[in-house]
Amino acid sequence: MDQQRKKSNSIFTYLRYKYREVRYGGEFLKRLIWRFMRLFGQRGKRCAWDGQYESGYWRDLSSKDSELIEIIEDFSRGGKIVSLGCGADDIILKLNPHVYSSYLGIDISKVAIEHAIDNAKRLGLTNCQFCVGDIAEWEGDKNITLIILEESIYYLNSGQQQRLLERCYDSLNSNGSVLITVHSRYKHEKTINRCKEISKVVKEINKGEKTYLILKSVHNGKN
Ligand SMILES: C[S@@+](CC[C@H](N)C(=O)[O-])C[C@H]1O[C@@H](n2cnc3c(N)ncnc32)[C@H](O)[C@@H]1O
Repeated sequence: MDQQRKKSNSIFTYLRYKYREVRYGGEFLKRLIWRFMRLFGQRGKRCAWDGQYESGYWRDLSSKDSELIEIIEDFSRGGKIVSLGCGADDIILKLNPHVYSSYLGIDISKVAIEHAIDNAKRLGLTNCQFCVGDIAEWEGDKNITLIILEESIYYLNSGQQQRLLERCYDSLNSNGSVLITVHSRYKHEKTINRCKEISKVVKEINKGEKTYLILKSVHNGKN
């Protein structure tokens, strides 16, 4: 009798183990495939990011903390905000719409942008626009008060990061700043240092592993 119970227990443990392995292995495999797809140019990146948004992978990971919203409200100064790599843009769900005159979100994923457009429609925000685009090819704009790079700059290579930051600084007005967030300053140490090297650091907030950097241009006293 004891022998039989032991046997059925071990089968149960084995099945539970196998279930976990498949479950977590499946998640791991999916992430590996997405990473691999991102190596294949713009099209690969687009498919990989669309896949992540379609699978709901970012749904629970993108809740916005109060620090982020406070910083955005402080530095938007009633002006124009541009969010590069905005994702489904949950920022606008929490942000007071009176702190900015217009809001533009750009992301490589069509699925993410569709979510963002739905969010804006649901809230009746007429001064928010969203479009699909590669931020590595963003040509810049004029008179922006705040450019947000929330968990997105480290998906570009070092040359692209530098060129993008230069375009950002050319696009700001005299009060303007760039906000960069990274979920782990240890993992993204190189990116943080690169950004700091070519910028003036206005404010740095470290919370747990997370870092928020508010930057301005170092050139000619501009910005
Ligand atoms: C980690 S998610 C962050 C999304 C959002 N900013 C947030 O924090 O919730 C990174 C985002 O960057 C976008 N992204 C990555 N590479 C990009 C590129 N080259 N051009 C535009 N968007 C890009 C992805 O589609 C994704 O939405």
